[in-house]
Amino acid sequence: MNKQKYGFPQHATSVIDLLETVKQKKQKDIDWRSGKAFCLIYYPGNEREENIKKVFDQYYADSALNPTATPSLAELETETVSMCADLFHGDEQVCGNITTGGTESIILAIKTARDWARKNKPNITQPHMVVPDSVHPAFFKAFHYLNIDYTTVKTGSDYRADVAAMEKAIASNTILLVGSAPSYPYGMIDPIEEIAALAKRKNLLCHVDACVGGFILPFIKELGYPIPRFDFEVDGVTSLSADIHKYGYSPKGASVVLYRTHELRKFQFTLYTKWSGGVYGSPTITGTRSGANIAAAWAAINTIGKDGYLEMAKATMETTERIKQAVEQSEELELMGKNDMCIVAFKSDKIDVYMLADELNKKGWHFERQQSPPSLHFTVNYIHKNAVDEFLADLKQAVADVREKRMAQMGNKLQSAMVKGLSSILPEGTIARLQKNSKSDLNNENTAAMYGMLGALSGTDDLDKIVLDFLDTIYTAKN
Ligand SMILES: Cc1ncc(COP(=O)(O)O)c(C=O)c1O
Repeated sequence: MNKQKYGFPQHATSVIDLLETVKQKKQKDIDWRSGKAFCLIYYPGNEREENIKKVFDQYYADSALNPTATPSLAELETETVSMCADLFHGDEQVCGNITTGGTESIILAIKTARDWARKNKPNITQPHMVVPDSVHPAFFKAFHYLNIDYTTVKTGSDYRADVAAMEKAIASNTILLVGSAPSYPYGMIDPIEEIAALAKRKNLLCHVDACVGGFILPFIKELGYPIPRFDFEVDGVTSLSADIHKYGYSPKGASVVLYRTHELRKFQFTLYTKWSGGVYGSPTITGTRSGANIAAAWAAINTIGKDGYLEMAKATMETTERIKQAVEQSEELELMGKNDMCIVAFKSDKIDVYMLADELNKKGWHFERQQSPPSLHFTVNYIHKNAVDEFLADLKQAVADVREKRMAQMGNKLQSAMVKGLSSILPEGTIARLQKNSKSDLNNENTAAMYGMLGALSGTDDLDKIVLDFLDTIYTAKN
């Protein structure tokens, strides 16, 4: 029997050594502090970070599991939820909880709808939901966990939910419709007023996923950008998710899920009152909940305030406009639709955008590669105001470099087409081996062919196997 790669440590390691180890390990990570990551991180600047951390530290070890033991955390949570409900035009009935992130908020909203239907639509034995195909995968995770049937409806040519098609997808067991404000891939706000009106007409619930947009849309609207109504001011919206750890600029681990009424929220809670350990009631999915994350979410909102969010939203939108303009002026690149906020996604029918991605990665930039069609995705936030000049210069250069490599690009296309044809005999663990054997692939350099291949396999069982293998490999300890 082979032993684990790491034995459990017998002795303490000094913090100096630990910090040195972390410093070394972190060198492999994206350099987001310099504004080079257009994904994953939302950063409000050093001074705000320090303020939020001071409050975080006060609750470093505290648990929010039992609100009678830590009433201060219950207060910080309810105050935060109330401030968010106010931001999203909720009246005093609107209530909710802080969760660990968008995914937890969404799973809870789906569970709430399911249990609401169990009580209010007892004839439905197998609930069904209708979502645009642009919704975040967190919904599919929720459907999988909670055994919900669903129909995904193709978005229109403007990449927004097609409400007429959603209506057609409503079945006798449908209980909930979903719209995003905005959806992640292209940053488009779905026609929430129409979706909510349809839901109301059919006596269904309506969830708005404002995870990525919730904490910036109200501010850019106040700055004069044309943002449609998307929250509780829209009649028929029954629940909403919004992530404080995105444009709310709190540390990771904080989102809110809100409901139109207390009656609806009660379906979110889990009770077990027969336990020998005592009466157990829990508002969200996790048992023990980090006090520090709740306190930090409260601190972020209070230390930044509306003035701060407006200032950051203004800078973010100005940066976004500059990137959009550069894309529009480029002969090679094409924006994916008329985006509502500060997500920029572009494609190209002149150059291979995955090759462009590799070139940009080599220059230290990080962002997402999307598929169907291949496109690149940049989530702009406050930190990018300092990096945008360098980014635009690098983008121009990278486009020029890729143009030069047209022949190689042809090769990639050929490779993708071949892989598609040969997908049934693709050996298991392909990606895992690519990751293991090739340093450049690990660094996200020269991955155009691999992404082309993944795009060609999109939605197939082969790709499922590859991704399972990849996850298994990446979450296994290595020396
Ligand atoms: C629209 C949308 N919904 C849900 C999520 C999931 O959020 P989280 O990663 O915090 O679970 C995201 C994340 O990017 C998102 O953009």
